[in-house]
Amino acid sequence: MPSSATFDIGPIGDLVTEEYHKSDGLWIDPYSGGATVADVTNDLNPEIESDYTMQALDFLKQYDDREIDGGVLFDPPYSPRQIKEVYDSIGLETSIETTQATFWSDVKDEIERVCSSGATVISCGWNSGGVGKTRGFERRRILLVPHGGQHNDTIVTVEDRTRTELFEFVR
Ligand SMILES: C[S@@+](CC[C@H](N)C(=O)[O-])C[C@H]1O[C@@H](n2cnc3c(N)ncnc32)[C@H](O)[C@@H]1O
Repeated sequence: MPSSATFDIGPIGDLVTEEYHKSDGLWIDPYSGGATVADVTNDLNPEIESDYTMQALDFLKQYDDREIDGGVLFDPPYSPRQIKEVYDSIGLETSIETTQATFWSDVKDEIERVCSSGATVISCGWNSGGVGKTRGFERRRILLVPHGGQHNDTIVTVEDRTRTELFEFVR
C-alpha cells in the first residue's frame, strides 16, 4: 500500500538500504520524515525527530561544494497538493511561489552542487526524472512500485554523479 513513510514500503526500503551500504561516504536526507537510514537527517516538521528542522534548501546550503561523497535521499512531497498538506499541518502558509516547479528544481540544483563524483541520489516520486542528466547524473536503476486500485505508482530512481568538471569550469 502507499505510505507517507516511503522507506517502510518493503522493496523501497530494501533498495535504499542496499544502495546506502555500497558506499562508506556521507549520506544525507533533506526530507527524512521518520526515516533514519542516512547519516544526517532533516525534516521541516518540528514534530518529527531529525538532526535538523529546516527548509530542505537551507539544509543543503550548509554543505560545501562536492562535500557529499555517499549520497542523497530525495523523497520530497510529490505534488503541490502534498506540499500544501505538509505546510498546513505545521501551520505554514503556502503561496503560488511555494508550490511551483522551483520547489523541486531549486533543491535539485543544490544537490548537484553538493554531490561529488560517484555520489548516488535516490529520488522517489511520480516520475523518473531524478536530478537529471543536465545536472551531471546518470540513471542506473529504476524501481516501479504499483500500489493497486487508483493509487499512483511510486517511482524510485537511482542516479550516480558522473560529471563535475564541466560545471566547475562554468562556475
Ligand atoms: C514523503 S515524506 C518522506 C518520507 C521518508 N522518506 C520516510 O520514508 O519516512 C516527505 C517529508 O518531507 C517533509 N517536508 C515537506 N516539505 C519540506 C521542506 N520544504 N523542507 C524539508 N522537509 C520538508 C515532510 O514533513 C515529510 O516528512
